[in-house]
Amino acid sequence: MFLCAKIEIAMRIKLATISSLPKNTQCLVVGISQKEAYKKHPFLSLVPASDRDYLQASLNAESVWNEKKVLIISLPSEPSRKIVLMGVGEGTSWNHRRRQASIRKAVLLSKDLKASSVALYLNDFSLPNMSPEAAVRTAAENILMANFSFNKYKEIPQGGWLAIETVSMVVNKIKKSLDKALDDGVIVGEEVNHCRVLSNTPGGDMTPKKLATAALEDSKRIKTLKVKILDDKEITKLGMGGVIGVSRGSSERPYFIIMEYWGGAKSKTPLVFVGKGVTFDTGGLNLKPTDGIYEMHLDMSGGAAVINAISAIARLKLPINVIGLVPAVENMPSGSSYHPGDVLRTITGKTIEVLNTDAEGRIILADALGYAHRYKPQLIVDVATLTGAAMVALGQRVSALFTNDGKLEEIARAVGEKSGDEIWPLPLWDEYADDIQGTFGDVANAAKTRYGGAILGAIFLKQFVGDYPWIHLDIAPTMTTIEGQNLAKGASGVGVRFLVELARKYSRR
Ligand code: BES
Ligand code: MN
Ligand code: ZN
Repeated sequence: MFLCAKIEIAMRIKLATISSLPKNTQCLVVGISQKEAYKKHPFLSLVPASDRDYLQASLNAESVWNEKKVLIISLPSEPSRKIVLMGVGEGTSWNHRRRQASIRKAVLLSKDLKASSVALYLNDFSLPNMSPEAAVRTAAENILMANFSFNKYKEIPQGGWLAIETVSMVVNKIKKSLDKALDDGVIVGEEVNHCRVLSNTPGGDMTPKKLATAALEDSKRIKTLKVKILDDKEITKLGMGGVIGVSRGSSERPYFIIMEYWGGAKSKTPLVFVGKGVTFDTGGLNLKPTDGIYEMHLDMSGGAAVINAISAIARLKLPINVIGLVPAVENMPSGSSYHPGDVLRTITGKTIEVLNTDAEGRIILADALGYAHRYKPQLIVDVATLTGAAMVALGQRVSALFTNDGKLEEIARAVGEKSGDEIWPLPLWDEYADDIQGTFGDVANAAKTRYGGAILGAIFLKQFVGDYPWIHLDIAPTMTTIEGQNLAKGASGVGVRFLVELARKYSRR
């Protein structure tokens, strides 16, 4: 299917009702907030009457029941079939984030049990104001995300990787709109996982050229997608001195990836998504220390998110025009590296005074943002693993949001919550620009102050956005998954769901 076709585990997600669910389903997942809720659970009708008392007794033996609890019970009459009782929250202790983490946990538990067929009673995981369509769609996304692991570089174990063949989402009633919601969720889940494959691929293998090839391959499997790759000659000719400057230290040549999907009205200007595509960030001559360089192959995560979001939007056939721009470079120290003190001329004519070669992301993004002007976009969104400072500010559970338009702040926050890619705003006052005034160039790429690094990165980018409405997501905080999220170690795929949900929202305007 994707890059790793040979080992990609095909999992099918289906809709079912209690009566249509196969009687031999191996793993029945029940989410209950209180022990008593179990007595009325519809899944009990799938369990032989003789087993029900045993189940009840097992549950009663638990002294407390809460969100952290899990009880796995083999049916006495049929030990290969399991009931997985999961604690779920309710009221104020239940929200989008916990719901999604719970659904993912159900998948991991079932996988551990080596169950090939799993049924999930979707109402157990519902939220008060969520439509059945959104419930099905986001559940499908999260089931696929939980099922993912990055095994490309590992020997296949005897008997293969643990795999679930089918997950049945049990709903009240199957209808067309839910079938569509399921299909849509699968598309997004697959693209999130593909994004994680690209990001996780080590720096030695994921070069700028490879990233460009991945985008080209997407345009081969998705016919409505147009992809154009600019090489270093074309990049130079366009006047992108930032991209060229950063790339100089590496023997890998830079590429500028342009993806276009014209699914909307001709009269509507597009959304332009810009992604940071640093395939490895050593810091350049301002070389990173050992701890800092670890995982810097993930520094193209914003670029991967843009590539896969555009692919998802095209596959979803959203009625909207979307452009993806990804400057792809490697940041290396060498005899030909750009130097601290260099002044680079960007495509906008504005020059950048390089004070730190490790603040490379903003330099290549300056050119990409400048290039975006050609489309007279109705909105520019950039997604970048821009600063360690954003992680210091927010921890690892939420990305930093910056915008030059107050109305967009609310829109983006709602999109963040709905999509599962959580974001949180930080200020972007013009006063901050004083800290990055250039001495010998127009703007400096780093400040003398140690404080507010995420804001300074954002205020730098703002100088290249022009008057277009703009959202900047610093995804450094959420670049990797963390313990407790019930996702495989490594890239989180952050950004894909946000961009897709945003496009969905704009397609309705
Ligand atoms: N790619 C890094 C930021 C980063 C750090 C992302 C850790 C994810 C995890 C970026 O290019 C960088 O090096 N930023 C510098 C900026 C500084 C030199 C102004 C930073 O954050 O220290
Ligand atoms: Mn850097
Ligand atoms: Zn970087």
